[in-house]
Amino acid sequence: MTESGMWVEKYRPQRLSDVVNQTEIIGSLEALIKDPTDMPHLLFSGSAGVGKTTTALCVTRQILGEYAKDYTLELNASDERGIEMVREKVKKFTKMAGFADIPFKIVILDEADEMTGNAQTALRRIIEDAAENCRFILIANNVSKIIEPIQSRCATFKFTSVSEGDVTSRLDEIARKEGAKADKKGLKAIYDYSEGDLRHAINLMQATASLGAISDENVKSSAGLTKTSDVDKVLKIALSGRVTDAREKMIELIRVYGMSESDFLKYINAAAFKTKHDRLSDILEVIAKYDYRILSGANSEIQLSAMLAELANLEK
Ligand SMILES: Nc1ncnc2c1ncn2[C@@H]1O[C@H](COP(=O)(O)OP(=O)(O)OP(=O)(O)O)[C@@H](O)[C@H]1O
Ligand SMILES: [Mg+2]
Repeated sequence: MTESGMWVEKYRPQRLSDVVNQTEIIGSLEALIKDPTDMPHLLFSGSAGVGKTTTALCVTRQILGEYAKDYTLELNASDERGIEMVREKVKKFTKMAGFADIPFKIVILDEADEMTGNAQTALRRIIEDAAENCRFILIANNVSKIIEPIQSRCATFKFTSVSEGDVTSRLDEIARKEGAKADKKGLKAIYDYSEGDLRHAINLMQATASLGAISDENVKSSAGLTKTSDVDKVLKIALSGRVTDAREKMIELIRVYGMSESDFLKYINAAAFKTKHDRLSDILEVIAKYDYRILSGANSEIQLSAMLAELANLEK
């Protein structure tokens, strides 16, 4: 499916007033951007799929208007190779001549909590050096992983899980616009699976709609179907040697669809049996090894990536 075909993108709020649930935060931000000259740097924290990135984009759009595209720099802290890259990009960005009538340029730095302590210390300097004509919006899942000196330079906003009422009414609104039939029990079932992660909820509803009505029963089967058949695919891709593709798909399942790491392992174990692969015992051995490592507390995304790499190597 193309990105534009995805309901999460199609219904991503364009203005702060369209963001659901985070009312207190939205109220404060609306007040802040009335006179943006005094706006401090912002730090958004909270779990997945609750509107952090969306809100950051709305803030930039509402402050910079038609200039938003040219005067916003979006970086992903965990994607960029190290703090040097961040420094170089921010430096170039702040130096870029700006004649537009805007109060400042904006840097959005997503997944800031994935940066090491040292990198964050360097980031603090970068923020200070750029502060004259730049504001930062830092985004983190876990605010306690952000070093204190950065926290104290930002106005912090803690995003909460989206409440059941807000999830179901948003889903209902989208279903009506899409002409999908949805009943109360179906929407409640989606909420139960997604636990306040609105991105997951909307994705699950779209997957369900392709089966038919949004009923309790269809939600259950699409939740099960997407899960297991997608994990089957991840295993197939890994065994064909395409580690990067397999990892991307795995990360999508976990981050976008909210599959837990332990479920992923359970399903990939089941998928291994279905393949009737001639090295089945090696495959199972690999899965068991990483299951154990994750259980002992190692970083699960890193471990699962390594597991896919090891599965890909089996073929060679
Ligand atoms: N509060 C919200 N109001 C309206 N839509 C929302 C909200 N939160 C999430 N969504 C929907 O979910 C999608 C993803 O939201 P967003 O990218 O803002 O999540 P996030 O909090 O940044 O998550 P992550 O931590 O995974 O990056 C949006 O495109 C939108 O469709
Ligand atoms: Mg985000």
